[in-house]
Amino acid sequence: MCGIVAVTGYKKALPLLINGLEKLEYRGYDSAGIAVINSESKSIVCNKSEGKLKNLISNLVDTDIPGTVGIGHTRWATHGKPEVKNAHPHIDNSGQVAVVQNGIIENYQELKIKLEKEGVVFNSDTDTEVIPHLIQKELFALSKLNLENNGSTLLVAVRNVISDLEGSYALAVLWAGAPDSLVVARRHAPLIIGLGEGEFICASDTPAISNFTKIILPLEDDEIALLTPLGIEIYDSDNERQYRNPIPLQITEQVLDKKHFRHYMLKEIYDQPETAKNWLEKYLIKDSKTGQFDIKYSFDTTFFESIERIEIVACGTSKHAAMVGSFLLEQFSGIPTNVFYASEFRYSPPPLLPNTLTIGVTQSGETADTIAAINMEIKRRSAIGDAKYKPNLVAITNRIESSIGRQITNIIDIGAGIEIGVAATKTFFAQLLSFYGLAIKFSQIKGSQSEKNIRQLISELTKLPPLVEELLEKHNQSSEKLAHDFFNIKDVIFLGRGINYPIALEGALKLKEISYIHAAGYPAGEMKHGPIALLDKKVPVISIATPGEVFDKVISNAQEAKARDSYLIGVAPECKGTEIFDYLMTIPSTNEWISPLLAIVPLQLLSYHIAAHRGLDVDQPRNLAKSVTVE
Ligand code: F6R
Repeated sequence: MCGIVAVTGYKKALPLLINGLEKLEYRGYDSAGIAVINSESKSIVCNKSEGKLKNLISNLVDTDIPGTVGIGHTRWATHGKPEVKNAHPHIDNSGQVAVVQNGIIENYQELKIKLEKEGVVFNSDTDTEVIPHLIQKELFALSKLNLENNGSTLLVAVRNVISDLEGSYALAVLWAGAPDSLVVARRHAPLIIGLGEGEFICASDTPAISNFTKIILPLEDDEIALLTPLGIEIYDSDNERQYRNPIPLQITEQVLDKKHFRHYMLKEIYDQPETAKNWLEKYLIKDSKTGQFDIKYSFDTTFFESIERIEIVACGTSKHAAMVGSFLLEQFSGIPTNVFYASEFRYSPPPLLPNTLTIGVTQSGETADTIAAINMEIKRRSAIGDAKYKPNLVAITNRIESSIGRQITNIIDIGAGIEIGVAATKTFFAQLLSFYGLAIKFSQIKGSQSEKNIRQLISELTKLPPLVEELLEKHNQSSEKLAHDFFNIKDVIFLGRGINYPIALEGALKLKEISYIHAAGYPAGEMKHGPIALLDKKVPVISIATPGEVFDKVISNAQEAKARDSYLIGVAPECKGTEIFDYLMTIPSTNEWISPLLAIVPLQLLSYHIAAHRGLDVDQPRNLAKSVTVE
């Protein structure tokens, strides 16, 4: 989603801003812009463009702006189309104030109407534009108090303005009247200050900072900060100055390297054997005396003993991982578990029950709905004041330095390494692994599975890296060939049952996200209750059929589709029953519990090749963002 970069220091701002924006490109955006205070003319120079960052860069190709203070932005449209006029930065009518913002200003309409009545002219359709106009108005009012033109005055003006804003924001503000200063503020949207040598860089996400410094000061909610080359002043919402130590930037891998792959997404699909290997090494610890395996977390899990039920909040692909997790936690570990769309949970939470573990799943750690759902749960449970109802929290994330990582102590780091492709692949795989870990842990604590069964599941998990490698070898080229047959396809149906129903949902989501083909996933048994009406020879059906309790059922559901002339693709082992498929994407015949970890791989490859064959922007699909920081 939108990205912010802002700098102040002694080096030229423009190259630093462009470099930072390049690092944020992976988040998904539709326009970009920068504003720098020209240190000679003391005026703001602004440049914006529609589309990719390369358009902005070519606008600026022979431009040398003498100035060390600037702001930059990649925009993901919410209010107003992706056009130059709606790209950030937004400037007030005097041209003195420039603002970039992430988030949504919910009361912008009423603020806009008021400003228009006062004669302010709006040049965009965005919610953001009210902010520079309001700041300019505030600066004008402050000028009557004979305050000096400096960063402190800008700080007062921004603070007065944000107290009138409703919604969420991370923002960075420049004022030509204070040419060495930058004011930044946040509420429910991430913003991190990086401390360089004689330089500060502020950004909405760590990759924009990591080349610059490894020392950061994350801004907390409702804080505002003044940054000048001389230092940082941070204030909380009560205007109390905050003093705290910077922390190291905890990023294990920032290599934005595609290697020999055409797209990051394909590279990340190929990273999965390594993801499995890393997970096994990090979490599956063998006791040297007993030879027993245990799952090791960085936090004390004693409180798991009192847990009687689990609720999981997540969005998109993370929700699909959570659904597999819920299946494991209920069916393997015997703990009643419910999964909720975080966006629904916020407004219709279930009645509170005692001894509940709440798990938030978010690879980015910044998803606004997931964070808000967790916060709401903390609030309503804490309000009861009964130990049985207290919030017990765990977050599963790939970004321990993210908002959720800073907020929740019990973090399960999925450790997949940064994922650049907007469509989640290896992070989904690593989220699944985290749920296997939890299911094993809970089974051991609750004694809900025999040691033999637990040992068997662990043994199957240890075989994953070579199995996934084989799947990649086997299916990459064949999926590329199969992708040709999808050129004119408009609808695809994915079917699965039991533990693989969420894999059908994830297969469908992957396909529609990057290829723009309509796809829907269903529990195979539900087909006959409606979706079957869609089927004909133009609608392929992809069916996940793994040996186990529901194998025969899935095969007979596939028969029903075949009888309606659908082209049938099976994701299944080569075994009796699978001859029904017109095309078989074979997966190894393993224990059904681990089948989701295998079935997802050919589906990811197929989606990738269909999108790549259509010549689409696989890594940055239209309208999507890697980190969804608005509601
Ligand atoms: C799908 C995808 C999205 C995200 C969703 C939640 O490929 O990437 O559906 O899964 O926006 O994001 P996180 O996991 O960051 O909370």
